[in-house]
Amino acid sequence: MNYARRPGIDGEALARLVARERETFTTTHAESARLSKISAEHWLNGVPMHWMRDWSTPHPMFVRRARGVEVEDVDGNTYIDFCFGDTGAMFGHSPPAIARALAETGAMGITSMLPSDRVARVGEKLARLFGLPYWQMTQTATDANRAALRWARAITGRQRVLVFDGCYHGTVEETLVRAWEGGTRARAGLIGMNHDVSATTDAVPFNDIAAVEQVLKRTRTAAVIAEPVMTNIGMVLPEDGFLQKLRELTRRMQVLLIIDETHTLSTARGGYARAQKIEPDIWVCGKAIAGGMPCAVFGFTAEVEAGMRRVQEDRAGGHSGMGTTLSANALALACLEASIDELMTPANYQAMHDCAIYLSEGLGRVFASKALSWHVARVGARLEFGFGKPPGNGVESERGAWPDLEHAIHLYLLNRGVLLTPFHNMMLCSPVTTTAHADVLLKHLHSCLREVGSES
Ligand SMILES: Cc1ncc(COP(=O)(O)O)c(C=O)c1O
Repeated sequence: MNYARRPGIDGEALARLVARERETFTTTHAESARLSKISAEHWLNGVPMHWMRDWSTPHPMFVRRARGVEVEDVDGNTYIDFCFGDTGAMFGHSPPAIARALAETGAMGITSMLPSDRVARVGEKLARLFGLPYWQMTQTATDANRAALRWARAITGRQRVLVFDGCYHGTVEETLVRAWEGGTRARAGLIGMNHDVSATTDAVPFNDIAAVEQVLKRTRTAAVIAEPVMTNIGMVLPEDGFLQKLRELTRRMQVLLIIDETHTLSTARGGYARAQKIEPDIWVCGKAIAGGMPCAVFGFTAEVEAGMRRVQEDRAGGHSGMGTTLSANALALACLEASIDELMTPANYQAMHDCAIYLSEGLGRVFASKALSWHVARVGARLEFGFGKPPGNGVESERGAWPDLEHAIHLYLLNRGVLLTPFHNMMLCSPVTTTAHADVLLKHLHSCLREVGSES
């Protein structure tokens, strides 16, 4: 790791802290260490999905159970969770409504390749909550985004998509890109990628409407896919009027606007786009939409639905190339309905927001007391702290990132019973997260910064 001295932080103190915290973790996680060793005999890197090694811990930490706001590991350590499975469990771990839906539907047939009896009802509830008349369901947000882009190409007859530099929309090949020297190239580090991104994708900076217009003028773009607030390269908020201009421009250029709210579902009941009256052509959401059960949805306008039907009528028979077998299974649908009815409620959003505001203000006070020029960004129940000034685009956000310090903070907090996401500094407040939980995070963050702070 690079512990070079940076403003406000003493690099040597940081290195000492990391060494000590790694040792503490090792001492207090003996059973996880044992499982990690024997798991490596049959799992790549000892874990069932390789990115489970992305945490700051010396070896993976194995979980025994997670309930509400609390995670318990196999060594009996408990944690207040602000990560919530990177959003999948944003409404709390195993909410009773989802546990009930799982138990009831699990005993009644999990998957049959046929629509279950609640389909009509759930469609109506989705339309009412999110304001779009037509819907489709997939297993993951990745699948939903992939399908949305495929439909967009088929409907418009155009091939290219526009994304914002620093975006993440899941493992959809054509979105795994960066803007680079006026063009677009594949992100660094991709494994086995053979997709020629220059043939499919344009990446431009977020908040740069002139750059979007420049690309759309070529009339080769089928769709713009965007998070309304960038959340995967730190948090980048839209400038005033940017999303409205994006909507107006895409409409004028007959380009479909796909808004991916997989993370910004945290904003408000019905999502960010609805709250801000953005009116996307296609709206995508996964992760927490069914309370943590694998499930994603995409909703679309009557015009898009008509386009989809035209495409279906005009195409030759055969496989559409879209869809996975377990999509829209009965279990996921039951959890989706339970989530709409009992999780995405006004009362739950109110509780999440109140707590997130409290945490945001507390973070501001911690940074002010250490004279650190850090910022806090918030979109509803989702918060992020970053180093330096609030960024306006992906590159600026990346410039402010500080992975060695982030890892040190995450490990320090984890050893004191607080979990943050392993990527940047994201925190979520669930309906069961309280100000007392937030106070624990704030107290330990303050002492961590006191230990590594320098006066320079
Ligand atoms: C905005 C956004 N869209 C899509 C995805 C992909 O979700 P999944 O990994 O569940 O397919 C993510 C994952 O982090 C995301 O942040």
